[in-house]
Amino acid sequence: MRLSDCHNIDDFRKLAKARLPWPVFDYIDGAADDELTKARNTSAFDDVDLVPDVLAGVGEIDTGCTIMGRKSALPLMLSPTALQRAFHRDGERAVAKAADKFGVWFGISSLATHSIEEIAELTEGPKLFQLYVHKDKGLNASMIERCQQAGFDALALTVDTIVSGKRERCLRSGFTTPPRFTPSALWSYATRPRWTLDYVFGPEFRLPNLDGHVQEGSGKAVSIQDYFNTMLDTGMDWDTAARIRQDWGGTLALKGVMSASDARRAVEIGADAIWISNHGGRQLDGSRAPFDQLREIVDAVGGEIEIILDGGVRRGTHALKSVAAGATAASGGRLYLYALAAAGQEGVERALLILKEEIERGMRLMGVTSVDQLTPNRLRWR
Ligand code: FNR
Ligand code: LAC
Repeated sequence: MRLSDCHNIDDFRKLAKARLPWPVFDYIDGAADDELTKARNTSAFDDVDLVPDVLAGVGEIDTGCTIMGRKSALPLMLSPTALQRAFHRDGERAVAKAADKFGVWFGISSLATHSIEEIAELTEGPKLFQLYVHKDKGLNASMIERCQQAGFDALALTVDTIVSGKRERCLRSGFTTPPRFTPSALWSYATRPRWTLDYVFGPEFRLPNLDGHVQEGSGKAVSIQDYFNTMLDTGMDWDTAARIRQDWGGTLALKGVMSASDARRAVEIGADAIWISNHGGRQLDGSRAPFDQLREIVDAVGGEIEIILDGGVRRGTHALKSVAAGATAASGGRLYLYALAAAGQEGVERALLILKEEIERGMRLMGVTSVDQLTPNRLRWR
């Protein structure tokens, strides 16, 4: 299978599976417990049908919209994800450059393998930094300050990761950051020489946004579960979020809000956006799917705060359904991570091209010429 054989996100997933050692693939692909929430995140979109209008004159259409104060070419964002150097030698750089080319938002994780400064220099496009609140207060202050200096457009505070979800595929594979060659996976590393040689001889694996504060995860190999459970601040609460709002001073999004009452509190602390998200099913299995929960949250706070639908998005029509149901935009992680693992920047660009074409085609077939014409009356819940 080659990159040119990839025509949808699932095709990139297959290619990624063939190219990555299984512990690395399972880290991306896996989720918590029985992975029910991960599956529902995508299947939720199937319970809603689009109602097209015809003869609408759709020769010229505009797929653009404004998200958190910046123009986006599509109602789609690339969610922040950790450890990208482990998936491809170019890591976050590849994703940043592809996002820039397509005029869409992307984010880097606190656990990114390229630095805030390096990413800021790479692109003028809309970019955000995802903050994990650590027990080390100096580290939190340092990351916020570095983002201010570097001119990041927004901060996304992740609120669904007070402790790690139970990721059983990672427990079985012994996946760590940095990845280690465990005996049970040795065969898998040996039969993926391209990945293995790149990993051993390519750019060094680092977590430069933690520099000077934390050795775990870069200098010292740990599982993501242990990292979360020892490094992150389990006591984080609404006062913490309000304080970060103040310290940062810029555009703030809360990532991982799932209830209407929490969405209301996000408005009250002056957040600019919420990401309805269950972390791609990697945290609380059994948690409701973002798309199932969207209407309730739109009813509660729509118009008062921007609402980003995060998780399960694999198709252009998923983004269209999200916007029609009241989201500002849809967002996703695996939709570009499989492509990154499959073929670096070229892979991410191909995934974005496919999704862009699906969005354009979907809008034309729906009979809309702009994103704001996608309204709830174009949807029917089964
Ligand atoms: C993530 N996600 C994530 N979220 C976050 O706030 N900080 C992070 O460091 C990461 N890291 C991360 C790694 C990997 C491999 C995945 C798959 C996901 C969650 C991510 O931002 C997003 O919420 C989910 O990926 C959405 O679900 P889909 O689009 O993958 O179905
Ligand atoms: C994950 C992290 C790092 O989901 O957020 O693996």
